[in-house]
Amino acid sequence: MSRSKIKGVGFYVPDNIIKNSDLENLMETTDEWIKERTGIEERRWVKDDMTTSMMGAFAAEKAIKNSNIHKDDIDFIIFATLSPDFYFPGSGVLLQHKLKLKEVGAMDIRNQCSGFIYGLSVADQYIKSGMYNNILVVGSEIHSGGLDMSNSGRSVSVIFGDGAGAAIVSKSDDNSEILSTHLHSQGKFAEELAVKKPATTFWINKIIEDPSEDDKGYFPQMNGNFVFKSAVQRFEEVIIEALNHSNFCIEDIDMLITHQANLRISNYIRKKLNLDKKKVFNNIMKYGNTTAASIPIALSEAIEKKKIKKGDIVCLAAFGSGFTWASALIRW
Ligand code: ACO
Repeated sequence: MSRSKIKGVGFYVPDNIIKNSDLENLMETTDEWIKERTGIEERRWVKDDMTTSMMGAFAAEKAIKNSNIHKDDIDFIIFATLSPDFYFPGSGVLLQHKLKLKEVGAMDIRNQCSGFIYGLSVADQYIKSGMYNNILVVGSEIHSGGLDMSNSGRSVSVIFGDGAGAAIVSKSDDNSEILSTHLHSQGKFAEELAVKKPATTFWINKIIEDPSEDDKGYFPQMNGNFVFKSAVQRFEEVIIEALNHSNFCIEDIDMLITHQANLRISNYIRKKLNLDKKKVFNNIMKYGNTTAASIPIALSEAIEKKKIKKGDIVCLAAFGSGFTWASALIRW
C-alpha cells in the first residue's frame, strides 16, 4: 500500500486588514473585549470582487509551486468550505476552471472548521489506495459578507476572518507521511452553531408566506459558551486518540496546530496537555477564525517561519459546527 505525505502548502489572505478598533465603529464592542475573550487583534476581509474559489486558487498556486509539481500533475481536487461561491455547484469545480487544471474530479467538503482535516483524510485514503498521485486539498472561506453586524450578532461577527490555505497530498517516497486521521461528528448539536438559510428547510416560498422568517437565519448563530466547552473537551480527546493510534505520547509532539477558533481554547489545550509554548503555533491574532482555511493557513505560516522541520511529528486538530471534530498526525 502507498503512503501519503503533504508535499507542499500555501496560503492567501486578502490585503484588507480590519482591526478591532474598526469594528468599534460597526457595533458596540471594544478592542479590549475582543482581545481578552478571543486573542484576536485583526482579521482580513475581502473587498467586493473576491470569491471563495478565487482565494482558493491563489492559495493553491502557492502550494503547487512549493511542492515542485506541475499543475497538470494534479489528479483530484478536494475543496472544503462553509461559504461556497454558489448554493450549487460546489467551489471545487470553479477552482478546476480557474486554475485551468485537467478535467479531474472535484469534491466539496461541508464540515466547517474540521473541513480541511476531513479533506486531508479523504486525500490520504485515495493516495494509499493507489487511485491518485497528487491531490489538491483547499480550505477557503469568505465570512465577511454574511455576518450580523448588529449587537445581537457581535459575539460571532468579531471572531470570523476571510482567507484560504491549500496543500498538495502526494505519494510519499521518503520518511514523511500522514500517520493517521480521525474524524467525528455529533449532529445532535447541529443547531448550536449554524447558518440555517438559504436551504431546503426554508424554501423561498416559505419565506414569502411568512416574511418574519426572513430574519437572522442568514447569519451564523452560535451558543458560544456551549461550543467553547465542547471544543476544549473534543480537541483533547481527538489529539489523544491520534497519539494512541501511533503508540506515541504527548512528548512526541513537535508541533500542535489546532483550528484557530479562539486563543483561549488553544491555550487551554496546551496547558491541559502540558505542552511547551514553542510546540503550539497560533496566528488567530492576525487572521481571526477562518474556519476550514485556518489549519492550512497556520500550517503554511509555521513552515514559512521554519517552526516545522523534516521528521517532526505534527498534530493537526479541529473542532467546529456540526459538531464535527478531527485530527491528523503527520511525520513531516
Ligand atoms: N463585544 C463586547 N461585548 C460582547 C461582545 C462583543 N463583541 N460579544 C458578546 N459580548 C457581551 C455579551 O453580551 C455578554 O454580556 P452580558 O454578560 O452583559 O450578557 C458578555 O459579553 C459575555 O458574552 P459571552 O457570549 O458569554 O462571551 P464568551 O466569553 O462566551 O465569548 C466567544 C464569546 C468568544 C464567541 C466564545 O464563546 C467562543 O470563543 N466560543 C467558541 C467559538 C468556537 O470555537 N467556535 C467553533 C469554531 S467556528 C465554526 O465551526 C463555524
